[in-house]
Amino acid sequence: MVKKNACVFISGTGSNLKNLLKRARDYSFPIKIKLVICNNKKALGLQIAKKNSIRLHLVDTKSRNFEKKILKILRENNISIICLAGYMKILSKSFLKEFGKKVINIHPSLLPKFKGLNTFERILKNREVMTGCTVHAVTENLDAGKIILRKSFYIKPKDNEISLKRKTQNLEYNVFPEAIIKIYRNI
Ligand code: GRF
Repeated sequence: MVKKNACVFISGTGSNLKNLLKRARDYSFPIKIKLVICNNKKALGLQIAKKNSIRLHLVDTKSRNFEKKILKILRENNISIICLAGYMKILSKSFLKEFGKKVINIHPSLLPKFKGLNTFERILKNREVMTGCTVHAVTENLDAGKIILRKSFYIKPKDNEISLKRKTQNLEYNVFPEAIIKIYRNI
């Protein structure tokens, strides 16, 4: 099969990047990770990209026209899909329009519930019975695009922010790749 070229955007640890790289080794997985874009020079995920010899671009989101620079790199690398994996910056409407291809994000809650930051803290405060993660299409509005795949689990009385994060991320490692397979199965 001909794999589509993907770019993963990160800002932090990069555990989803690591997992996607692992899954992409499978010849039947629909994408090849060709490029990583990161807006944080201290991100641990940078080491994952380096170790796997993936082309890497650090962007300075304070510089003028940074989105134009990203678009140029995406075009040069013939990128068909952007996977946001812990990228802590909202992409502008004009960026999304100009890129014109698929952009997806993984969020650690059952969207549309708990958009935004400090998710686990708010989930616990709200005494939710269930939580999970969601892969969705990216629009200029935060965590609001069409839902591609969402999976859940029950919260236990003894769960805290740390255990919820761990359980949610373990679920993410299945849901993100599955969502990518689903996208390309539907084409
Ligand atoms: C993930 O938990 C994801 O839900 C959120 O950011 C986190 C990134 O973690 N959007 P990592 O950098 O992939 O480890």
